[in-house]
Amino acid sequence: MSVAKPLPHDAAALHVSGQARYVDDIPTPSGTLHLAFGTSPVACGTLNEIDLDAVRSAPGVVDVLVAADLPHENDVSPSAHDEPLLAMDTLAYVGQPICLIVATSHGAARAAARIAKYNISEGAPIFTIEDALAANARFEDGPRVYGRGDVSGALESSPQTVSGTIHLGGQEHFYLEGQATLALPGEDGDMLVHSSTQHPTEIQHKVAHAIGKPMNAVRVEIRRMGGGFGGKESQGNALAVACAISAMRTGHPCKMRYDRDDDMIITGKRHDFRIDYTCGFDADGTITALNVVHYTRCGWAQDLSLPVADRAMLHADNAYFLPNVRIESHRLKTNTQSATAFRGFGGPQGMMGMERIVDHVAHALGVDPLAVRRQNYYASSGSISDQNKQDTPYGQIVEDAIIEELSAEVCASCDYDVRRAEISAWNVANPIIKRGIALTPVKFGISFTLTHLNQAGALVHVYQDGSIHLNHGGTEMGQGLFQKVAQVAAARFGVPVDMIKITATDTAKVPNTSATAASSGSDLNGMAVKAACDTIRERMSEHFAALHECSISDVKFAHGQVRINDHIYSFAEAAMAAYQARVSLSATGFYKTPDIEWDRIAGKGRPFFYFAYGVAVTEVAVDTLTGENRILRADILHDAGFSLNPALDVGQIEGGYVQGAGWLTTEELVWDDKGRLHTHAPSTYKIPACGDRPDVFNVALWEGENRADTIYKSKAVGEPPFMLGMSAFFALSDAVSACGPAYADLQAPATAEEILKAIGRARDV
Ligand code: MTE
Ligand code: MOS
Repeated sequence: MSVAKPLPHDAAALHVSGQARYVDDIPTPSGTLHLAFGTSPVACGTLNEIDLDAVRSAPGVVDVLVAADLPHENDVSPSAHDEPLLAMDTLAYVGQPICLIVATSHGAARAAARIAKYNISEGAPIFTIEDALAANARFEDGPRVYGRGDVSGALESSPQTVSGTIHLGGQEHFYLEGQATLALPGEDGDMLVHSSTQHPTEIQHKVAHAIGKPMNAVRVEIRRMGGGFGGKESQGNALAVACAISAMRTGHPCKMRYDRDDDMIITGKRHDFRIDYTCGFDADGTITALNVVHYTRCGWAQDLSLPVADRAMLHADNAYFLPNVRIESHRLKTNTQSATAFRGFGGPQGMMGMERIVDHVAHALGVDPLAVRRQNYYASSGSISDQNKQDTPYGQIVEDAIIEELSAEVCASCDYDVRRAEISAWNVANPIIKRGIALTPVKFGISFTLTHLNQAGALVHVYQDGSIHLNHGGTEMGQGLFQKVAQVAAARFGVPVDMIKITATDTAKVPNTSATAASSGSDLNGMAVKAACDTIRERMSEHFAALHECSISDVKFAHGQVRINDHIYSFAEAAMAAYQARVSLSATGFYKTPDIEWDRIAGKGRPFFYFAYGVAVTEVAVDTLTGENRILRADILHDAGFSLNPALDVGQIEGGYVQGAGWLTTEELVWDDKGRLHTHAPSTYKIPACGDRPDVFNVALWEGENRADTIYKSKAVGEPPFMLGMSAFFALSDAVSACGPAYADLQAPATAEEILKAIGRARDV
């Protein structure tokens, strides 16, 4: 069967040979025009006047637009209608698009964009979480609160408590392919849009509004992205709308791609957080009460900040049972880029808060943090009776916990106890280089928390030569979704996967799709494709059963053949015979996730169909004179259920871990006191390089199937491994702890500078 095979990514050869075609590689018709935005130089102000004379007469400039020139709605927000394509009177961050330049080349458009002159009255900007709290600048009237139990009572009666704060930095997506769109005007106002987007339907919707047409006039196509990581859920709207409007005005195809610096300055990033906590616990490390407050820096527009902050709250427990807990969440408005989706969608921030608390509790007790972790893990389902099953702070019963099993297995395979003892001995003997080790677990909820998004569609054709055309609503961004789903289709028809043609995502083939996000791409689209394939298979089976006078169950699809007892057809012969018998060989498929329902205001119910689990152990070494550090070794055991493709899943785990560790260590965004982002290129923003991959990197898949009824019992794997990177941060915290007696309160990102400061705090008593 073609599922479970470790096949390479369907486009692997194209990727590595440079032949994979991205939006910017599509050959353009002659007369194609190129776009660039003129952007705000200030973080906060009133725009009084724009002087575009020099821009209009600059070489190659064909057209220049400001807000007043837009024919219809001036909005590119995903839902809140608070994000104009081009600024009106108010300027809200450095980099906000003000005017749109249409020129004969990319270079000409960018050069002209820089010479626009603005008359601006500057206002008083709000940059930090503290500024926003002082000004009460927020997206909801007050904080949202989830929780249960008597937290203040339980805190009072707890034998010990710890309190503290952790700051978590944002993160630039750094997709290798930047944002890009090509819009081709058709007849009668129709528009074909090629957009590098995780959310073709939203692009279609926003473009339709912007050009004043119904959705059926707009078709959006995307074959692949060179990475999205959440940064292409909503951030492509502006480019697509700009291109479509310009294409409509000029009658020419219009293309826009952000230069890397523009991309980093204009688009949103991961939300940075401040998390304050007070935690009560027993002498054995059992957590008895927890009060945690999330401060989320959302930037100037709402974008996806509310569901991101919700997901942070829903992951504030990470893998631990909390009997008395209060989680308060503030969604703050600042004059910075509008923070957006990023792998984990708030989950990483929520979980980091909890892991910090566990680390702090362990320090207070003078024990290995692993002991506190184990003490508080959600009980494994096999080990307790149904009545005793533990539930999350939002009341979802954790039916599938395997955290203790994963921890035990990875500790055994990586020799945790022996290495822990060796590291302690090393740290006693060596004053300069300190080592550290940490195990952190991941429990990540799978499903869109906006419940209606948990649906997907597919379209499958079998041609008369037996070749198969596959389409679904998911998008490919490197994660391997298309290959996994093709493996599902191949398995349903019993044919080799190379008989399946994987085709570009296209709003004209499958409508009303959800973003490829929340890691649910293969869960949702895999099921929809299965349904479509099975419809065709059933029609073929009925035909052959009637023809050979046997029952439908006698018709078997396997090994590239259709067998009906002694009658054997190749799949191609079967397709031809079915076609000639006038059997329809095309079908749609649809799927919606069952059993999920919750109240996001109250924070109660079952938002997730199931949880994905993983455990990582990381060992680091720190130079205490400079703060420089290295990951020496990482061991991961991750739960992908019955893996649809172990090679792709391991790739997701490796990449996710490294990206997560990068967020918490070297990736630092620096804005100056005018709100200008200074880290807007790889020269100043340090993503992990090949050399930062752990020297020893052992990744294994847990052998067990999903208990929930998913496609072939697999589990979503796109985001959960990102949070395995937390173990690198806590290994650093462990190394810092070896420098002195005080709890050092390591902050994220733990850059070399921050580590050096933390070492100072550890020593300072
Ligand atoms: N892997 C690669 N190579 N590139 C990406 O852009 N995005 C991540 C993850 N893995 C991403 C990736 C994010 S944010 C999500 S939500 C999932 O892939 C989306 O795809 P899936 O639902 O098919 O897992
Ligand atoms: Mo992923 S952040 O859900 O696109």
